[in-house]
Amino acid sequence: MNKVTNTLVGLFVLIILSSSSCEKKDYEVDQDFNSGWVFNKDDLEGVENIDFDDSKWREVTLPHDWAIEGPFSNEYNARTGGLPVHGIGWYRKHFSVEKKHVNKIISIEFDGVMSNSEVWVNGHHVGTRPNGYIGFEYDITKYIMFGKDNVIAVKAAPEDLGARWYTGAGIYRNVRLKINNKVHIPQYGTYITTPKITSESAIVNIETSVVNNTNSETSAHLVTCIIDPNGIEVAKSTKDIIIQKGKTGIASVDLAVKAPILWDIYTPNLYKAVSEIVIKGQIADHFETNFGIRDIKFSREKGFQLNGKTVKLEGVCMHHDQGALGAAINYRAKERQIEIMKSMGVNAIRTSHNPPSPELLQICDRMGIVVQVEAFDEWKLGKVENGYHKYFDRWHERDLTDMIKRDRNHACVIMWSIGNEILEQSRKDGWKLTKHLNDICHRVDPTRPTTAGFNYFPAPFKNKLANYIDIVGMNYWPLNYQEILDENPNMIVYGSETSSQTSSRGVYHLPIEPMHQHSTNHVSSYDGTVGPPWAYPPDVEFEQQEKVTSSLGEFMWTGIDYLGEPTPYGGRDNSTNGYWNDDWPSRSSYFAPVDLAGFPKDRYYLYQSQWTEEPMVHVLPHWNWEGKEGDMIPVYSYTNCDEVELFVNGKSMGKKVKGFDLTPIPAEFHFFEKGTYESKYRLSWEVPYQAGNIKVVAYKDGKAEATKVIHTAGKADRIELEVDRNAITADGTDLSFITARILDKDGNFCPMADNRITFTIEGSGILAATDNGDQTSLESFQADNKKAFNGMCLAIIKATNSAGTINVKASAKGISGASVSIITK
Ligand code: GAL
Repeated sequence: MNKVTNTLVGLFVLIILSSSSCEKKDYEVDQDFNSGWVFNKDDLEGVENIDFDDSKWREVTLPHDWAIEGPFSNEYNARTGGLPVHGIGWYRKHFSVEKKHVNKIISIEFDGVMSNSEVWVNGHHVGTRPNGYIGFEYDITKYIMFGKDNVIAVKAAPEDLGARWYTGAGIYRNVRLKINNKVHIPQYGTYITTPKITSESAIVNIETSVVNNTNSETSAHLVTCIIDPNGIEVAKSTKDIIIQKGKTGIASVDLAVKAPILWDIYTPNLYKAVSEIVIKGQIADHFETNFGIRDIKFSREKGFQLNGKTVKLEGVCMHHDQGALGAAINYRAKERQIEIMKSMGVNAIRTSHNPPSPELLQICDRMGIVVQVEAFDEWKLGKVENGYHKYFDRWHERDLTDMIKRDRNHACVIMWSIGNEILEQSRKDGWKLTKHLNDICHRVDPTRPTTAGFNYFPAPFKNKLANYIDIVGMNYWPLNYQEILDENPNMIVYGSETSSQTSSRGVYHLPIEPMHQHSTNHVSSYDGTVGPPWAYPPDVEFEQQEKVTSSLGEFMWTGIDYLGEPTPYGGRDNSTNGYWNDDWPSRSSYFAPVDLAGFPKDRYYLYQSQWTEEPMVHVLPHWNWEGKEGDMIPVYSYTNCDEVELFVNGKSMGKKVKGFDLTPIPAEFHFFEKGTYESKYRLSWEVPYQAGNIKVVAYKDGKAEATKVIHTAGKADRIELEVDRNAITADGTDLSFITARILDKDGNFCPMADNRITFTIEGSGILAATDNGDQTSLESFQADNKKAFNGMCLAIIKATNSAGTINVKASAKGISGASVSIITK
């Protein structure tokens, strides 16, 4: 009898639920909290108080990075971009919460504040967080005056000598106000794993946390649905739960998904889990989590396997800034960076050396890039005076746990890095801290391996740090991968940081020479010169990755140039523990195959020739060597085809075969000191200069598949504009990136043009920034004009909130201008 009643009750509940659950509803917890802030960069007294007079402060919309506005100055560290990243900045916002929410839980969630943030609500201190890369949330219910004016004050206090790169400053990631019922799913409240996957079905396990902030035990139904990549509900479960008063309960459900549509790098299919709390027929919370069904495995025999197939990691390390836009996260700016990386053939990113923005992982989930999320650049031993080591003891457990909890549902995330080049490598007891951090990772997420980037050799092996992580990353030791594998039969190895070659776009120094400082502070794009003492040309890594088949692959340093760390234009400075410091006016990195503006350097094509299959060919240098007529000019070509034929003014200079014809690279790098390295990845000729053109034709199986021509350019004559997207969203954040090129009268690109281009914007957009990729430019990123650097510069246009047209005009003295229109919807 009892049984029947129970079944009936269960049935009754289910009927109500199936008509009410899982479809998209008007249930919003998060309120936009990015607009309406005011900002002041001063160390003031009493700013946290409600009645503090902020009427004269500047209005800002978050995310905001105060440092990117500059000005550049060598008073600031060039390592951190020569920009004012340190100091104290205050943000305030007046807001109200309607009276009807009096019984709700009000919290504020920050995706990250750079750094040492403190938050007050109506004069009450609610929390502090030193780490600038970690998201955090405060329950501010008890300080809220419902139906009245409330004030939130946020202080950010990044310190000088706090980092080895540009960090940005202020509330540089998104902020949300959350209005939740007393019973709700908290921040990072779901943990989704896929313990069993076959082609017939996948088991999806979802652990859901439920908070009960009421004064009594509460019964609820937890309804969980899975929506497939086509938007169809494919699994559903209802579970009765009881949560004790004041407690958080965790409910675990297994759902079976038939014929799962897997996530991988070619078809990044995403599922969505919808979790709803239903109390007495009413929805108390609605929580959505994107996830992917995919299987990852790592082994010496088969490397990194995604869904059973080996994928060699062709990866890059990336810092978090977005060039001229600074560190303030912008979805489109990040997405463009990843598009550029993908077009180079990248399939993996290491978020050196800190937790990324949530947006980066959303984009990688969507675009099919696997990610290694890294936690720290310092443990207890500091690299910079005011680095994370000061906060490590007190905060590391919390920071690491929060990082993993936030990111563990992302299909793209494949490993957790507990540290980069941490100095504890050389400590005998370094393994203890390694084990401790490794254990935290395994506890919070047993489904992914841990790793670290070691730059000492053999210290981390002798001191056993390498024994306490799952996968050993080596920074800059390509010739030792095999030795490490041979001596440690249980270890899996890869290049966590590789190459560190440096260059400036469009710069060619002749003769080709090993590392050499130039008065212009530029580095040649022949890419024979390298960078810091540990650097080596990309070719060396390609060769080792081919030889050492057990290696998982590499993460080259870095995908895109970043602000700060302008090595090799840096002397050694004792005040910074012997690390690279100023060599003004260099203020951004030279490492990447793509410059700060997002324009490919020649090296981009070298990676493309190794990492992509669509037939391509590239040729360098430019062909404007006036005064060098008859001199021998080295010409390099990069291709993924079998052979390349070079033509000068239509005359063949002969074919070269990839993998057979070698290119000598005069370079000084630590394992070939003052030597010449012979690369099988570049084809080269030496030809007498004669104005006209050079052309390369690449052949595959004897068939011409790709070609590229470079013409000797005449005088600068006009500007050409190219827009990445000419229809964008009128949401106040979407961006259009406009590339300006200087051409001669015949339409040939002028490779050394430095005309100053001024951009005029009219209509539904504003000019967000300008850049030219020159590592030595001290011109403001906010200026409406920029000198072209080797023929190119960039304007970044931001949509306003009103739909319409944006008209962009580019003009320069003495040459014809150009214009382009962008529609915003
Ligand atoms: C590595 C370090 C990176 C960057 C790079 C430059 O040793 O991990 O953060 O500094 O050198 O070559």
